[in-house]
Amino acid sequence: MVRRPVVLVTGGAGEVGHGLIHRLAEGGRFDVLALDLRSPDGAVAARCAAVRTGDIVDRRFLDRLRSEFEISIVFHLAALLSTRAEFVPERAHEINVEGTLNLLRLATEEARAHGGPVRFVFPSSIAVYGLPDVTTKRAAGRVREDAWLEPVTMYGCNKLYCEHLGRYFARHYRQLAPEGDASRVDFRAIRFPGLISAFTLPSGGTSDYAPEMIHAAAQGKPYTCFVREDTRIPFMAMPDAIEALLALLDAPPSSLTRRVYNVAAFNPSAGELASMVRHAFPDERITFEPDLRRQRIVDSWPEDVDDTAARRDWGFRPAYDVERTFHEYLLPNVRRGVEGH
Ligand code: SER
Repeated sequence: MVRRPVVLVTGGAGEVGHGLIHRLAEGGRFDVLALDLRSPDGAVAARCAAVRTGDIVDRRFLDRLRSEFEISIVFHLAALLSTRAEFVPERAHEINVEGTLNLLRLATEEARAHGGPVRFVFPSSIAVYGLPDVTTKRAAGRVREDAWLEPVTMYGCNKLYCEHLGRYFARHYRQLAPEGDASRVDFRAIRFPGLISAFTLPSGGTSDYAPEMIHAAAQGKPYTCFVREDTRIPFMAMPDAIEALLALLDAPPSSLTRRVYNVAAFNPSAGELASMVRHAFPDERITFEPDLRRQRIVDSWPEDVDDTAARRDWGFRPAYDVERTFHEYLLPNVRRGVEGH
């Protein structure tokens, strides 16, 4: 039986999946197999060569996929985000860690089956960092990839460990096996800041206040922000995040000096974001009522990250600064979205 060659996108019904699948379809380079617990919306599904619903924790389900499809690239986007994971940490571990292990195993088996490396692109997160308090966070400024790696959330621990798992599969897999077994999984990861899309809302994250504030304003709804006005973490417009995934995918192995990269774009405080939103939507009512526990999580994330390595090794350059994100990407699209409903 001939297996169909595809690029596998797990989390295909999620926020990043939405942006990535549209972009992959525009590029026309790949046939996409989208995987998620639920079907992606119709417009996303229409852009896929195939859609399958199932759980990445279920190895038999993944084995069945392998009988149907030949997979040479994996974008493993499926995850339970940081706020939701704190309510069900063991389940988060299952999805975020066991799920990733299952996908790495799938990639290893695929590489063995078709005799070439499988590129495995993994979105990690600023949640892998853990700064002890706001004073230290302010003093730390732009954090490098190997500093402050003591995450306070289950999600952050999961992402950090999966970075190690990926590196292990890529470099040290079964290193003592007599036949000197290499996995041929070419693992590459990007630590994303909070992502903001004009078309979708995240679900269950802790950086969600920024996208929520903007989407609420577009819909004429008041917004109560769950962090203090002076809270500062990095954010990025979704199109830049998608381009970063594709740029890292395409980078020749010889240009990469590491497997995990920071990327940065802009880092307004929650108060500065609120001012921009109020300027665009003068009737918008934004109030600040910090949820002390979620605040603690955001306070442990850096206020900026150092992305020198990504710029140098694979030419990362965000196209959207905060002004352009707001005025050219978010405002026109969220306004159109509201009119379209
Ligand atoms: N946006 C994610 C979250 O808030 C962080 O990667 O959980």
